[in-house]
Amino acid sequence: MSRGKSRSSVAWAACFVLGTASLAHAESSNAVYDATCGLCHQARAAGLKGQFPRLAGRVDRMAADPEARVYLIQTVLHGLVGKIDVDGTTIVGVMPPFESQSDAAVASVLNYLVGLGGAPAKKVKPITAAEVAKVRAGERLAGPQLLERRRALAAAGHVP
Ligand code: HEC
Repeated sequence: MSRGKSRSSVAWAACFVLGTASLAHAESSNAVYDATCGLCHQARAAGLKGQFPRLAGRVDRMAADPEARVYLIQTVLHGLVGKIDVDGTTIVGVMPPFESQSDAAVASVLNYLVGLGGAPAKKVKPITAAEVAKVRAGERLAGPQLLERRRALAAAGHVP
């Protein structure tokens, strides 16, 4: 992935300066997030009501649930299109697929998002590159099938 973007270079420099102070805690920023997700999902994944779903405080809950965890990885790899309900508002949006991202990059951005959860990143097992590779190689749920899967998971309380 290109690291030529000035925004991520600044983030890297800031990490370097602040690094030693913040190492013990969850990542304070993530280069993949800044370069590929932040434009839509906003700073620190706060979302934009009615347009882009909030991910902070939701991805950690999905990652803690075995079924939602697979959905989470599938969504980043294959994208999501259609109507979903988040934070009491309906979003009819388009999430582009990120299949071109490496397994390590997908794992990295998801672990960053897990760390933004409200509760201290408790018992959520870090997502590994190998886990992403396994989902990538598995059943390819995308488009209407993935949307249907999300509906079922949300109805059963697996997706907040
Ligand atoms: C072009 C804007 C855009 C970009 C860039 C983007 N997303 Fe999304 N994302 C969306 C939209 C819109 C949705 C909701 C899709 C829908 O309404 O069906 C979404 C949904 C999601 C969901 C599912 C949320 C849920 O409640 O089911 C996850 C997880 C997610 N995005 C993660 C990411 C990650 C990680 C990245 C960066 C690798 C990223 N997104 C980049 C727009 C974007």
